[in-house]
Amino acid sequence: MNKNDYIIRLETKNDYYEVENLAREAFWNLSIPGCSEHYFMHVLRQHEAFIPELDYVIEYNGKIVGCVMYSESKFIDENGAEKPVLTMGPICVLPEFQRKGLSRMLLEHTFAKGIEMGYDTVINFGNPDNYVARGYKSCKKFNVSLEGGTFPAAMLVRELKEGALEGRKWTYYQNDADAPCDDEEAVEKYDALFPSKVKAWQPSQEEFYIHSHSAITW
Ligand SMILES: CC(C)(COP(=O)(O)OP(=O)(O)OC[C@H]1O[C@@H](n2cnc3c(N)ncnc32)[C@H](O)[C@@H]1OP(=O)(O)O)[C@@H](O)C(=O)NCCC(=O)NCCS
Repeated sequence: MNKNDYIIRLETKNDYYEVENLAREAFWNLSIPGCSEHYFMHVLRQHEAFIPELDYVIEYNGKIVGCVMYSESKFIDENGAEKPVLTMGPICVLPEFQRKGLSRMLLEHTFAKGIEMGYDTVINFGNPDNYVARGYKSCKKFNVSLEGGTFPAAMLVRELKEGALEGRKWTYYQNDADAPCDDEEAVEKYDALFPSKVKAWQPSQEEFYIHSHSAITW
């Protein structure tokens, strides 16, 4: 892959449909039959936690082939001190462009921008396979849990500044930007704006179930 063939730039309004269609191609049938990530992008852009300065696409020959978005959430430590953190996602690359290092380029670019903006931590839920090579670690390693003290296996943390989380115990409070995605009717209605696709089962959905229902306990 020649890195110079690709352009990383901020998303514009004119890109919305292309980017959402890309997300639909990348996520379709991956975690559930169909997907809701294109609708998530639509509602996320309108949410107060959304960070437009970190809303990037990657282009190849004038075609958008990957994208990443971020929103702001918070960690609260055991003494009640709050820290704003970056919640990464969605991130996706068109299937025919995957495994070429494009998400790596997008993450490295936006991590550097995030540091410039003063953030020191990124967090997201995901398949660890996609993230450990980018310096992410299990949330347990940084003592970051959900309320109630659980450490989801899929909750992955990346320090942008080494040692930023050291020596404290953190609880993650994710913004509620994805709440509208629970409304299946709204997702269906939005999906109808895109080319028809067949919903089906595939093994990755079982993998998703396992990852998203697992916690690290020791
Ligand atoms: C996940 C996704 C964004 C990765 O993008 P990509 O451009 O294909 O990833 P890269 O080529 O930059 O690879 C990044 C790293 O992930 C790992 N990786 C990527 N795909 C992998 C796979 N299928 N299995 C195992 N590891 C994988 C590699 O270790 C790679 O690290 P390396 O660069 O050190 O070799 C892309 O595959 C995608 O859009 N998938 C569908 C949507 C999705 O799952 N999004 C993430 C939600 S959690």
